[in-house]
Amino acid sequence: MKKTALVITVSDGVHAGSRDDRSGEVAVQELKQRGFCILAQETVPDDVQLIVHCIQKWTRQPVDLVLTTGGTGLGPRDVTPEAVRPLLDREIPGYGELLRSDGLRHTPMAVLSRSFAGTIGRTLIIVLPGNPKAVGEGLQAVGPTLHHALDLLAGETKHQSSERVRD
Ligand code: MTE
Repeated sequence: MKKTALVITVSDGVHAGSRDDRSGEVAVQELKQRGFCILAQETVPDDVQLIVHCIQKWTRQPVDLVLTTGGTGLGPRDVTPEAVRPLLDREIPGYGELLRSDGLRHTPMAVLSRSFAGTIGRTLIIVLPGNPKAVGEGLQAVGPTLHHALDLLAGETKHQSSERVRD
């Protein structure tokens, strides 16, 4: 069965309609290519309560992956980590480390992103930067481990050799 995903774009501009949701589109295309069924694509402003409300609305039902884009930087309105981190049952430090170390191959600015990932129940949540390029690069970086991470979360704990991990 196909894994399910929700894409949430966190951006005042996109929510107000003054900017196109290019990062959400990149995320949807990348996830479809990786075999995901996209349950919905949402946009929310850079507001802690509205971000929390959107995530909780979706994680009450079974969804394998929630991907957020935007609001990970240092601007006064960048609050996605502050909204998402308190919702986590478990953080996965390796994904934050991977996203920044891989991002540094593309731009020194990657160090400014507070990207991370974790779990809420049986849902994996990945918090990516808002630049469409960063979304593509981030999904390329986490791609090879994504399905195995979701299998583990779903209770399929059989070990996989690195050769057998799907890209
Ligand atoms: N990571 C990758 N892989 N590629 C990028 O282009 N952009 C950076 C960084 N991470 C970037 C990246 C920039 S310019 C910023 S300001 C931070 O992500 C935070 O972005 P955000 O506030 O849109 O989340």
